[in-house]
Amino acid sequence: MIKTPFTELFGCKHPIMLAGMNWVTTPELVAAVCNAGALGIFATARCTPDEARQNIRKIRELTDKPFGINQLLILGQVARDVIDVAIEEKVPVINYTLGKPWFIDQVHAYGGKVIGTTAYVKHAVKAEQLGCDAIIVTGAEAAAHGEEATTLVMLPIIASKVKIPIISAGGYGSGRGLAAALALGASAISMGTRFALTKESMVHENFKQLCLKASENDTIVSSKFDGMRGRALKTPVTERIVKGGFPLVEAFQGAFETKQYLKLNWPQFIGLSFKMMSADSEHPIWVQARQAAGFRRHTMAIYDGNTKEGIYFAGQILGACDDVPSVKELIDRIMVEAEATIKKNNAAIA
Ligand SMILES: Cc1cc2nc3c(=O)[nH]c(=O)nc-3n(C[C@H](O)[C@H](O)[C@H](O)COP(=O)(O)O)c2cc1C
Repeated sequence: MIKTPFTELFGCKHPIMLAGMNWVTTPELVAAVCNAGALGIFATARCTPDEARQNIRKIRELTDKPFGINQLLILGQVARDVIDVAIEEKVPVINYTLGKPWFIDQVHAYGGKVIGTTAYVKHAVKAEQLGCDAIIVTGAEAAAHGEEATTLVMLPIIASKVKIPIISAGGYGSGRGLAAALALGASAISMGTRFALTKESMVHENFKQLCLKASENDTIVSSKFDGMRGRALKTPVTERIVKGGFPLVEAFQGAFETKQYLKLNWPQFIGLSFKMMSADSEHPIWVQARQAAGFRRHTMAIYDGNTKEGIYFAGQILGACDDVPSVKELIDRIMVEAEATIKKNNAAIA
């Protein structure tokens, strides 16, 4: 067993976290991760507040272990309402990204913990100052929204600047990776791409098969997928999107579908759009339009397995993924390999 500040703080057996992944994280996947001794996080970006509550209650039916939710704060009022639900439901861990948290004291009041997600050293320092209990640091290798700096560079810098536990995200899937993250100053790893390739993951079989064939060079980074720099599986459609212009028609179509999906009425939808366009927003209208277009294509990939039109976010760790184990098999083998790696390295000390 490996004990770290992460396992102590969150009360789980292993220093491993399921990354919040919109669409991919289901109550079943989250509970499987928790029941196997790691920390499961459910991404609520696709949920209305009522759906978030139902999913939280479903997770509680499937596990009695600690778990968390992940919310994108750029979603404005919808994000506020979902966070309110999570607080009412006393969700043990609230993980936020893309925004400033206003709810830390409320979560602490019932004994919950807050994890901020960042891809920048300065934001990690800020998250600690704001009162976060831990931070996720996303390196360039990651699926979806990493930035340019790599884990190898960022972790030691952040570890020298903050005292709260660091969870390293981006590029993990093995015990050697976990051992390396701990050596660099992290207390745990967060895995997205790897957990999406497990038996319990609902990602469509077509994309699981494409991922198994992919190497570490088969991903592509662009801000054209959803308006923010993101890494996706390289396919004819993602290559075409990267070369193409602004998808105006798709953006409108996607915006409309997003409105339907989140069950917003028109005033709510327009209000949210204006809020996101406001002076302090880092996400101007064209980013939102891209997000709307991307939203459609992500669901086409994950739910429908549409390899001709769908976009599938995936990280460089694809190069090391050559099977579809159960969640428990994956976690157990990572822990065995991590312990062996640490023991071997310790034995090298003369
Ligand atoms: C399909 C998919 C959806 C994602 N959705 C979210 C999300 O809703 N919120 C978030 O903070 N990160 C999201 N991410 C990023 C992951 O939380 C995590 O940072 C990333 O997967 C880590 O890199 P890895 O894939 O190399 O393990 C998503 C990633 C994927 C693959």
